[in-house]
Amino acid sequence: MPPSEALRAEEPALRHVRQKLPHDSAAKHARGAAPYIDDLPEPEGTLHVVPGGAPVARGRIVALRLDEVRAAPGVVAVLTAADVPGRNDISPSHKDEPLFAADEVLFHGQPVFAVVATTRDAARRAARLGRVEVAAERPSVTVEDALERGETVLPDYAFTRGDASSAIAGAPLRLDGQFRIGGQEHFYLEGQVALAIPGEDGAMHVHSSTQHPSEVQHVCARVLAVPDAMVTCEVRRMGGGFGGKESQASTWAAMAALAARVTGRACKLRLDRDDDMAMTGKRHDFRVDWSVGFDEEGRIGGVDMEFLARCGCSADLSQGVVDRTMFHADNAYFLPELRIGTKRLKTNTVSNTAFRGFGGPQGMLAMERVIDAIAWRTGLDPLDVRYANLYGEGRDLTPYGMQVEDHDVAPALMRQLEAQCHYRARRAEIAEFNAHSPILRRGIALTPVKFGISFTLTHLNQAGALVHVYQDGSVHLNHGGTEMGQGLFQKVAQVVAEEFGIGMDRVRITATVTDKVPNTAPTAASSGSDLNGMAARIAARQIRDRMALVASGMFDVPPEEVAFRDDRVFAGNESIAFGDLACRAFQARVQLSAAGFYRTPKVTWDRAKAEGRPFYYFAYGAACTEVVVDTLTGENRVVRADILHDVGRSLNPAIDIGQIEGGFVQGMGWLTTEELVYDGEGRLRTHAPSTYKIPVASDVPADFRVALFDGANREDTIYHSKAVGEPPLMLAISVFAALADAVHSVAPGRVVPLDAPATPEAILKAIGLAGAA
Ligand code: MTE
Ligand code: MOS
Repeated sequence: MPPSEALRAEEPALRHVRQKLPHDSAAKHARGAAPYIDDLPEPEGTLHVVPGGAPVARGRIVALRLDEVRAAPGVVAVLTAADVPGRNDISPSHKDEPLFAADEVLFHGQPVFAVVATTRDAARRAARLGRVEVAAERPSVTVEDALERGETVLPDYAFTRGDASSAIAGAPLRLDGQFRIGGQEHFYLEGQVALAIPGEDGAMHVHSSTQHPSEVQHVCARVLAVPDAMVTCEVRRMGGGFGGKESQASTWAAMAALAARVTGRACKLRLDRDDDMAMTGKRHDFRVDWSVGFDEEGRIGGVDMEFLARCGCSADLSQGVVDRTMFHADNAYFLPELRIGTKRLKTNTVSNTAFRGFGGPQGMLAMERVIDAIAWRTGLDPLDVRYANLYGEGRDLTPYGMQVEDHDVAPALMRQLEAQCHYRARRAEIAEFNAHSPILRRGIALTPVKFGISFTLTHLNQAGALVHVYQDGSVHLNHGGTEMGQGLFQKVAQVVAEEFGIGMDRVRITATVTDKVPNTAPTAASSGSDLNGMAARIAARQIRDRMALVASGMFDVPPEEVAFRDDRVFAGNESIAFGDLACRAFQARVQLSAAGFYRTPKVTWDRAKAEGRPFYYFAYGAACTEVVVDTLTGENRVVRADILHDVGRSLNPAIDIGQIEGGFVQGMGWLTTEELVYDGEGRLRTHAPSTYKIPVASDVPADFRVALFDGANREDTIYHSKAVGEPPLMLAISVFAALADAVHSVAPGRVVPLDAPATPEAILKAIGLAGAA
C-alpha cells in the first residue's frame, strides 16, 4: 500500500478538519466589517506620527533644520535620534540599522525625524517643512556599484560539491550566461501601521500590523530602554504581510511607541502608500552569473552559479533570505558537482527583506533558466530536460547534503499534470501554430516546485498556544501565529474544535498578544499552521484529558473510553453535553486552561559546517502555463494555467486552493508586470500604483485549473498536511518559462536573452536581440 493510502486508512471520520470551511473573517472582509488597526477606536487625545526622510541616498548629515516643523500648526513634538532613550537600532539581527539616521544617511527616504501632531494631515504638512542638509556622496545603487566598492552587508557564503569547474570543462556540452531577476514590492493592501498606547509605570501597549509580535515587543523595549515585560504587542489581523511585515513592522511600531513615550499620549503611525513603498524593503533582486556542463540528453554534470544579491543598506533578514536562494538553486534537480556562491551586497537603497518564498523563488528561477538554456541548446523539449535532471534513486543528495527521501513525488506529480493538461498534444499544436503565425507566438512550459519547509534558523521552529474552556463549554483560542489573510486562525480553530468534538461556533479566535503566548517565532516560512496547529492541539488535549477523567469518574468508565463528539461527551451508555461537563469539571476544581508547546522534530542545520537537515519536509507542486505574445509590441496574455499542488492531506481545501491561486498570481506579477526602477541617485521612481503594476482581476488566467495532489505528508505533521503559504508563488515560474518559450520560437536554438520581469518592453527587447543575433 502506498504511504498515503496507509495514512488515510487509519483516519477516523473528521467533522471540521479537511472541510472546505470559509475563512473565519471572509464575510467581515467582504463587508468591510473586519477591523484593522486604523479602524480601532482612537483613545482620547490620540496623536499622529509621520516620518521625514533623507533627501539623498548617501552622505553625512551636516545639519537638521526642524524649527519650521516645530512651529507648524498642530505639531506637538518632533523626534530625532537624540530623543531615543534606549538604543537607536531597529535591526532584527545585526545591529546595523537605526530608527532615525543620526549622522550617516544610508538610503534615499531613510527616516531622519518624525513629526507628532494632532492630526495626520497636520503631521504630513509639517514633515515637508523639515530641512535635512547632507554632504552627499555618490551612492551605490546597483550590484555593480557595490561590487566595485567591495561593500557587503554580510560575508560571502557558498555550497560546493566535487569540482564544478572541471566537471563543466569536461562535459560534452557547455553554456554560460548572465541573468537578472527583479525585486518585488509587497503591496499589502493595509500598509504599515501601529498604534501605541502608554500605560502605567512606563508600560506600552502596541497594536502593530506585524507578522512578528515578539520582535516588535523586543525592538520597542530596546528603543525605549525598558524591560521586554513592559511592552505588549497585539495584532488581530493584517491586511496582508507577504513577508514585508516580518522584520519591517518594528520600525513603525518603535516610532509610534517613542512618540507615545515622549508625549504621554496614544500615538498612531500609518504610512502613506508612497512613503511605504520608498521606506520599506522589498524582495531581493539579483544578478546571477552561471555556467553549466551537460550531455546530449540534457543531463547536468556540473554547475556553477554566483548569486549577487542587492541587499540594500543593512543586513535585515538577508542572511536567511539569500541562504534560501542557495537552498533552492537546485529546485527539484540533482546537481552532481556544483558551486552555489552568494554575495550579499550593500547598496544605498532600502534594506531588502522577506517576501513570500524568502529568496527561494530567485534561486529556483535561476535554475529553471539554466534548464531552459540546456533545452534550447540541445533541441530537447524543456520538459524532458526537467525529467532527466530530477532527483531519483542514487541521485538524491541536495547541494547542502540533505537527502531527498521522497524523490518519487515530483516525477509522479509532474507526469500526472502532463497527462491531465495534455502537454504533448498542445506542444505539437503550438509548434504548428507558430510555424504559420509570424506575429502572434504561443509558448508553453511545465515547471516543478520543491520547497523546503522549516525555518533554516533552527531555533525558530517552535510555537506556543493557550486554550481556555469556560464553564459553558465555549473555548478561547490563542496562539503565537498571526493572521494575514492566509486563513491560519481558521485552520487552528478547526484543529481545536476537532479535538474537543464541538462545533466551530464554540471556538473563539482571538488576537495574537505577547502577554498570552510569549517568545514566539514570526509567522513566516509557511510554517504557521504546522507549528501553531500542533501547539494548539497539545494544549487542547491536556484539557480534554482532564475532562475525560471527570467524565470517567461520573460514569464509572475508564478514561480512555470517553469520547468527545457532536458537542457531547460519551462514556459507556451515558453522555453529557460538553458544556455541562465543563461546568462539572470546574466544580470538581479541575483546571480548564492549558498552554501547549511544540518544536519541530528532526531539523538540524549547522550553517558554519554546511551540514545537517534544514527542512522537516518538502512541499511539491507543478504548473503548466500557456501564453500568447504579440511580437510587434511584446504584449502578452496567459491563456491557460493548470496547477497540481501538494498540500499533503489538506486541513482546509478551500483555504489551500485560495493560497495556491493567490500565490500563483502574485508570482505572475513579480515575473511579468511588477518592475522596480531606481534612478542613478538611488531614488525609487516606482513608488505608487501609477508606475508600479500589480496584477488585477483581469490578469487572472481566463482558463485556470487548480487541483490538489493526492498524497499525505509522510512526516508526522498536523493531520499529515503540508504548508501552503509560499510554495505556490513559485509555480508562476512556468509563466516566465512559457513567455521565454514563445520568444524562443522566433530564433530557435539560441538562449533567449530575457531577464525577469518579462514586461512587454523586456520581451520586445529580447525578440529584437534574438532576431538580430
Ligand atoms: N496569504 C495572504 N492572504 N496574505 C499574506 O500576507 N503571506 C504569505 C503566505 N500567504 C500571505 C499569504 C507568506 S510570505 C507566508 S510565510 C505565509 O502566508 C505565512 O502564513 P502561514 O505560515 O500560516 O502559511
Ligand atoms: Mo513569508 S516571506 O516567510 O513571511
